Amino acid sequence: MRRIIYYESVDSTNLKLKQLADTVPNGTAVIADCQTAGRGRLGRNWLSRPGDGACFSVLVKDNRLTSLNAEGLVFCCALAAADALRELSGKEILIKWPNDLILNGKKLCGILCESGFDGDKLKWTVCGIGINLNAESFPPELPYATSLRLETGLTYDSRQAAMDTLARFDRYTEMLYNDGLGKLTGLIAPISATLGREVRAIYAGTEIRGTAEKLLDDGSLLIRTAQGSVSVRSGEVSVRGLYGYI
Ligand code: BTN
Repeated sequence: MRRIIYYESVDSTNLKLKQLADTVPNGTAVIADCQTAGRGRLGRNWLSRPGDGACFSVLVKDNRLTSLNAEGLVFCCALAAADALRELSGKEILIKWPNDLILNGKKLCGILCESGFDGDKLKWTVCGIGINLNAESFPPELPYATSLRLETGLTYDSRQAAMDTLARFDRYTEMLYNDGLGKLTGLIAPISATLGREVRAIYAGTEIRGTAEKLLDDGSLLIRTAQGSVSVRSGEVSVRGLYGYI
C-alpha cells in the first residue's frame, strides 16, 4: 500500500519529498495540482500552472537500490510515464534520452531524479515527473513544449495520470533490480526519439556532435563523432538534435 501525500499547491514535489525522505517509507509519493517553484534538470525551472498538468514525485529507498542501479530510475520513470500516456491517449510516445517524453516532436514530460547520500552511501532517490496534460498554450520561451490536450483535443485527469504512472513505475523498478539496467535500455531502444539522429551533447562545457548510435547497458548514450565514438552519461549532459528539439 503506497502512502500518498496530496497538495493543491506546493513549492516543488521533489523538494517536499526530499525533506520527508528520511522519515517516510519507500514508495511514498507526493502529488500536487500545481507547483510554485517546480524544478527541472540542469538548474532550469519547470512550469507548473494550476490545471495544466501532473506534477508528482516518488521516493525510492529500497534496500536493493545502489549507486549503480539508481542511474536506471530515470528510465523506469520514462518507460512508466510513456506506457501510461500511450494508454490514456492512444498516441505514440517516444523517449528522448535520457529523460524527456516526446509527442509529435515536442516535449510532453520531463523527469528529475535527485539522490541523498550518507557519506558515499546512497540513501534514497526522489524521482519527479512533470507531465503536460491540459495546457492550452505555452510561453514563447518554450517553443518545443506540448500537452496531451494540444495534441488530442481532450482533457485528462492529472491524478489518474500520476497513479497510472506510479503503478507502472513499481513494475519497472522490480525489473531494474531483478534483470539490470540493460533490460530497460533494451525496452527504450525501439521507442527512442534519439537513436539514429544527429545530436549535440553539452558535457562539462564542451560540445560533442555526432550520431546517436546506441544505448549502452549502463544507460549511457554512445555518440559516433568524426573523431570516434564517445559515451555520455545521463546525469551530466543535455542532448539536442541538430535540427530541432529531438
Ligand atoms: C526537466 O525536464 O528538466 C525535468 C522536469 C521535472 C519536473 C518535475 S514536476 C514534479 C517534480 N517536482 C519538481 O520540482 N520537478 C519534478
